[in-house]
Amino acid sequence: MSLELKIEAAAAALELVEEGMRLGIGTGSTADEFTKLLGAKVANGFKITGVPTSERTRELCESFSIPLATLEEMPELDLVVDGADEVDHQFQLIKGGGGALLREKIVANASEKMAVIADDSKLVDTLGVFPLPIEVNPFGLKATWNAIEKCISELGLEAPLALRGGGSPFVTDGGHYIIDASFGHISDASALSDSLLNIPGVVEHGLFLGYADVVFLAGEAGVRRL
Ligand code: A5P
Repeated sequence: MSLELKIEAAAAALELVEEGMRLGIGTGSTADEFTKLLGAKVANGFKITGVPTSERTRELCESFSIPLATLEEMPELDLVVDGADEVDHQFQLIKGGGGALLREKIVANASEKMAVIADDSKLVDTLGVFPLPIEVNPFGLKATWNAIEKCISELGLEAPLALRGGGSPFVTDGGHYIIDASFGHISDASALSDSLLNIPGVVEHGLFLGYADVVFLAGEAGVRRL
């Protein structure tokens, strides 16, 4: 995805942001472009309060002096703007390529609306080509890994698993690990979501079902609002 397309999608979503809003601010390279544009607006006197979805986004926001609150201080938000790794036609998403899925989902759930910004290569008929990030507690990693494999097989699916970071595991902002599951094709995202969340060591996964309200897809012909 070219930088121009990321900026175009971000600029389109910025138009949804109204003065005084309590705004969730997403994570990822597309969300970064949104944060930069928001920072420029704030520098011109526009007032919002942001809740970042990761430490990385918090640092970027601070570098632009965007006023921030924690979700503790501001538990209800008007809007969150965030990227996605895949979007289907029902607005189901895979997120978490950048590893921030847990906070992203908590913030999305606390937000009245979610706007997704992406380029049109992220629009898919069926989710699953992008490996699904599954955030797990490091305690009992092997047992959780086995339980995830069993869950996948019981659903009649196949998905090689990979611990993100391998021998030096990637650690999320919440102190967890991520297992990436390469399904290729997720026909029933809801069933998979429920089954994964039934596993005690699974903290969260990157299927965002029923969160996105509007999707801004940037392509060669401009930005489409879905
Ligand atoms: C971060 O954890 C992710 O959910 C990102 O929002 C998602 O991976 C999209 O990232 P890019 O905009 O960098 O593709």
